Amino acid sequence: MSISVERYRAISPSEFFYRNKEIAGFSNPARALYQAVRELVENSLDATDTHNIYPDIKIIIDKEDSSEEIYSVYVEDNGIGIPPNHIPNAFGRVLYSSKYVLRQTRGMFGLGAKMVVLYGQITVGRPVEVTSSPRGFSKIYRYKIMIDIKNNEPIILEESVYPNINGWHGTAVRVFLKGDWQRSKNKILDYVKRTAIITPYANILFKDPEGVMYYYQRLTNKMPKPPKEVKPHPKGVDLETLKEMIVKSRVRSLKDFLMEEFEGVGEKTAEGIIRLAGFRSNQSIRKMSIDDLKKLLDAISRYEDLRRPSADHLSPIGEELIKIGLANMFKPEFVDALTRKPVAYEGHALIVEVGIAFGGSIPEAPFPEEIMLLRYANKIPLLYDESTDVSFKVVSEIDWKNYGVEFPARLAVLTHVCSTKVPYKGVGKESIADVPEIEREIENGVKELARRLRQYINRKKRMEEEIRRAYTFIKYIPEIARGLSIIYDGSQDSYENIKEKLFNMLREKVSVKNIRSIDDVVISIE
Ligand SMILES: Nc1ncnc2c1ncn2[C@@H]1O[C@H](COP(=O)(O)OP(=O)(O)O)[C@@H](O)[C@H]1O
Ligand SMILES: [Mg+2]
Repeated sequence: MSISVERYRAISPSEFFYRNKEIAGFSNPARALYQAVRELVENSLDATDTHNIYPDIKIIIDKEDSSEEIYSVYVEDNGIGIPPNHIPNAFGRVLYSSKYVLRQTRGMFGLGAKMVVLYGQITVGRPVEVTSSPRGFSKIYRYKIMIDIKNNEPIILEESVYPNINGWHGTAVRVFLKGDWQRSKNKILDYVKRTAIITPYANILFKDPEGVMYYYQRLTNKMPKPPKEVKPHPKGVDLETLKEMIVKSRVRSLKDFLMEEFEGVGEKTAEGIIRLAGFRSNQSIRKMSIDDLKKLLDAISRYEDLRRPSADHLSPIGEELIKIGLANMFKPEFVDALTRKPVAYEGHALIVEVGIAFGGSIPEAPFPEEIMLLRYANKIPLLYDESTDVSFKVVSEIDWKNYGVEFPARLAVLTHVCSTKVPYKGVGKESIADVPEIEREIENGVKELARRLRQYINRKKRMEEEIRRAYTFIKYIPEIARGLSIIYDGSQDSYENIKEKLFNMLREKVSVKNIRSIDDVVISIE
């Protein structure tokens, strides 16, 4: 009997994602085209609004081959650019990123751009073209790059430098990939539109492969406050992070370490934690054993007086911008938005924002499950896997009848979760897990806005009722005026006079629209 022998070997991160493209959203040509647009646009937005630059984004998809489904995706921005020495790795080394810090950005895995390049490379075989000039640089750098999948390294095929005459800064990326425009068209258009809703401070131009242009013009000069980078919160670290922080730290004593390296730890808190863990405050951090570190973590988890994680590193959209975006997109009769206070989720601050729009051009939903749900996480629209998302759960479980909404209804609900720790269900970032903290925040937010919507709907109903009654009365005004005028003096003048007075009295109390004179009403009703 022969015994089979297992063969062992390690693979690189790029080989792993090459084999498992689906988990990053590249499962078929349609989805890949959508995902490519998304990853590039998100990088462009991160390079602009996160750095206080009004985004000017250009997206062009072209069909490159009349017989085959080969497309080029071109995305250009006016962002901070990429220093030339980082360009090859940023596009050619999986898990290379400038965003592995505690600050809210759209990107966080160091994966997106590389997945686009990788997918293009294996379906079409052409390199990515990256042109960039960082702010203040006098030169423009251009690269053609592919990925050495086995070794997870960039292969530079072409490299050139040009003078930057006009002081341009930003980045332009072009990739060639196998796609399917017909199958991805709706999703891509939706994606661009939903991005525009929450970035009313951006100019976004999109030209599709059929040559149709979509232009979302900047509507406001207000931009969300950019996120600041922060230090970790004590409740957000584990043993590994702690070990790494100690290796990197320049201070020696445990007390200095806690005060220096963590968010929201002052002298009193540091001393409190140290006492609880049973150390001395001049305990040297380098001499701490694994057991000591475990004791420290245990004390941190038991310590109750810790300040909540700061939310300075988050950049919520804000109530005003959400309202502007929704109002402009749907011209609704009612719109409102709400930014909830930061809460803590696994040692990270988390802010939930919600918006509601009612009426206007919102498509009619026959049931609550079909309500237009605009989901966002860290300013990224989430389009796929709606039914597994925590927001869907909340919105479809609300009893909308209690809020005066009767179906079919033109209702749109927007939810935005921002945090440096968003529990996405996959690296393709399409849906958020139903963590109780997040579910509660979304539910409270949506219900608060639903109450405001109910007030509006009730007010509207009352007014409609009043108007209906007013119309009934108005019909009788000429007759009453005629009778009164006969009693008075029988003249045409007093008839007109009385009629006018009665009409005006009514109009003082009820807003009767589109009616200039009482005769209009009589004619329109009978
Ligand atoms: N348009 C761009 N402008 C500036 N920097 C960019 C741009 N696109 C990519 N980068 C840089 O390349 C890095 C890698 O991008 P990506 O692979 O999408 O990962 P992530 O966005 O998660 O960091 C980014 O962290 C950023 O530093
Ligand atoms: Mg990215």
